[in-house]
Amino acid sequence: MKQPPRPPRPQSATRAFARASGAPAGDATARRGQAPRFERPDAFAAARREDSPGGEPIIREDEMDNELGVKKIGVVGCGVIGMSWTAYFLAKGFSVRATDPNPAAEARTREYVDNAWPLLERMGAAPGGKDRLFFSTDLIEAMDGVDFVQENGPERIDLKRTLFRDIANAIEPRVIVASSSSGIPVSDFQGASVHPERIVLGHPFNPPHVLPLVEVAGGKLTSPDVVDATVRFYARIGKKPVRMNREMKGHIANRIQAAVMREVLYLLAQDVASVEDLDIAIAHGPGMRWAILGQFLNADQGGGEGGIRHMMEHLGPAMEGWWADLGRNEHIAAEDIGLMERGVAKILERHDRAAIASARDSVLAQILQAKAAEDRLPY
Ligand SMILES: NC(=O)c1ccc[n+]([C@@H]2O[C@H](COP(=O)([O-])OP(=O)(O)OC[C@H]3O[C@@H](n4cnc5c(N)ncnc54)[C@H](O)[C@@H]3O)[C@@H](O)[C@H]2O)c1
Repeated sequence: MKQPPRPPRPQSATRAFARASGAPAGDATARRGQAPRFERPDAFAAARREDSPGGEPIIREDEMDNELGVKKIGVVGCGVIGMSWTAYFLAKGFSVRATDPNPAAEARTREYVDNAWPLLERMGAAPGGKDRLFFSTDLIEAMDGVDFVQENGPERIDLKRTLFRDIANAIEPRVIVASSSSGIPVSDFQGASVHPERIVLGHPFNPPHVLPLVEVAGGKLTSPDVVDATVRFYARIGKKPVRMNREMKGHIANRIQAAVMREVLYLLAQDVASVEDLDIAIAHGPGMRWAILGQFLNADQGGGEGGIRHMMEHLGPAMEGWWADLGRNEHIAAEDIGLMERGVAKILERHDRAAIASARDSVLAQILQAKAAEDRLPY
């Protein structure tokens, strides 16, 4: 792993970003309200790489400087995902104005942030960040003065429609609203809102305060500039956004997960291996490579000198044979859930669930640090 001596850092992330993107440094607020300009996403990669030599913290307060002039972020819905986004945004130095109709959500969110903070501090959380959380059960009060909104309400289309209408009425027209929705396309709920062109998908992976991926997609009424600006904003604050060229049910990564779930469930039902061994087959095999490279570059490596072409021409016919043999479940049967549950329970007889969660996040953070310190990886 590359660990060069840490050079002095006279250049702020803003300057490096400005240099890479062609934008003047320090005028983020001056650009506020203007139509977002498209800049190549790899400008961010260049800026972030240049500014993140080995061993640097992943999270840095100066990343708060962004072309949208975002200082206050509205978080709507403080369940599993909203609480985690809140922790992330606070760690990045933003003020967070959170809302949830459940009055218990405030204490729960503050506790979540407290628990996540030691890990976030190890990742370089902004000092004092935890104090910048305001909570109200009143949506209009909470959204007062926000510059960006991350929506995390329940995954129900009727609720999303009403919620987006209410959010849109509570904020300035320039403010982008990103939905964490796991499966409902933005097109299905943006129509009832004023200025639907600034409503966009910003689908994170759980837990968003640790995992970098955010899938960004516009709906039918979303401005392409807003999609681009949202991609750049997430990249700017340390996320790893991918831009979808068009909406697709389940987006990208959940479809991939669904395909894998279908097959492990099939293998389990066929009694090919235990739950634990099926999990090990992923976590100690392809999953380790997937944490570093995706399917295509891993296949390219697997093809040796001939790259991905050789890989597919050589092993493709065998793979076609496996495809023809794959499980094709369309329903999750009650007995399959029982099989999975019993297999998981067997592992949990020996290992504490909360300890597993904490260890998983801790190892994830170490992987992120290791990746940030390795400048030869392509993405
Ligand atoms: N859980 C995941 O792994 C995951 C991952 C990525 C995205 N998502 C998406 O994130 C969103 C939230 O999922 P979750 O798992 O956090 O759900 P959750 O049930 O844990 O949280 C939903 C929260 O929304 C609140 N809520 C209900 N009505 C509301 C309203 N009118 N205004 C504001 N808040 C309201 C609830 O009180 C609750 O706290 C969903 O769209 C989901 O698809 C979930």
